[in-house]
Amino acid sequence: MRPAGIASCLLAGALLVAAPAPAQAPGDAARGRGLFAGKHCARCHRPSGQPGAGPALGQLRRPQGAYELAGRLWNHAPAMFTALTQERLDWPTISAAEMGDLMAYLHADPRRDPAPDLGKGQLALVGKGCLKCHSFRREGGRVGPDLAAQRASYAPPATWAATMWGHTPRMAAAAIQRGVLYPRFSGHEMVNLIGFLRSGAGAP
Ligand code: HEC
Ligand code: HEC
Repeated sequence: MRPAGIASCLLAGALLVAAPAPAQAPGDAARGRGLFAGKHCARCHRPSGQPGAGPALGQLRRPQGAYELAGRLWNHAPAMFTALTQERLDWPTISAAEMGDLMAYLHADPRRDPAPDLGKGQLALVGKGCLKCHSFRREGGRVGPDLAAQRASYAPPATWAATMWGHTPRMAAAAIQRGVLYPRFSGHEMVNLIGFLRSGAGAP
């Protein structure tokens, strides 16, 4: 089935209602600063004026939404994965609580994320290629778990960012094996996608 076909099929009979997101416990910015060093982030993100492989620390720490930051973290996971593998460093595990602290340190606040646009989120599910590996309402790939069954991992945003982070190494391996392009997110695409995945659309 062509992606457009999958999209219209998902829409048929689905009542799209944004699910209220569970509140995120406030993170601790001081602990987040320690984690930023401990999880290898500070190797590439240095204070401005100091050379580093990634954008300067000051550019990372700016007011932003929490799902917005999750999208930024998703984008750079493949490059970071490759760099760490080359340096023979393990992929750092980040728990949901630690992610909340990192978010606080980077000035990411769930209240800055807009309400999700569920229609755009549905298009993102297809456009970002998730269904090449995952099923949703029994449509799509069989490489990863069904996305409708994963709802508990999508909110609050620190939980999703931590899930996504743990997902990276296995997904990267599957993507390389299958020649699937690693998707990138911008603007509010992540909040829309997650809003759609959390909505009633996946109910059997
Ligand atoms: C191996 C080097 C490397 C490491 C380690 C690394 N990053 Fe990055 N990071 C980059 C590069 C390069 C970019 C920009 C390119 C891109 O987005 O693909 C980036 C981009 C980002 C951005 C988006 C910046 C923007 O303005 O959009 C954020 C946020 C970020 N990194 C956070 C982190 C955090 C948090 C960690 C630790 C868990 C981390 N990075 C570890 C290299 C790294
Ligand atoms: C190249 C294949 C591939 C693509 C593309 C892909 N995934 Fe996955 N994903 C996987 C695999 C493989 C697993 C299961 C890993 C395992 O079994 O441990 C997985 C697991 C997951 C999980 C469960 C993670 C956990 O730890 O419980 C979620 C949630 C998820 N993916 C979301 C997504 C979303 C959202 C997209 C699109 C933006 C996406 N995936 C794109 C391969 C992929």
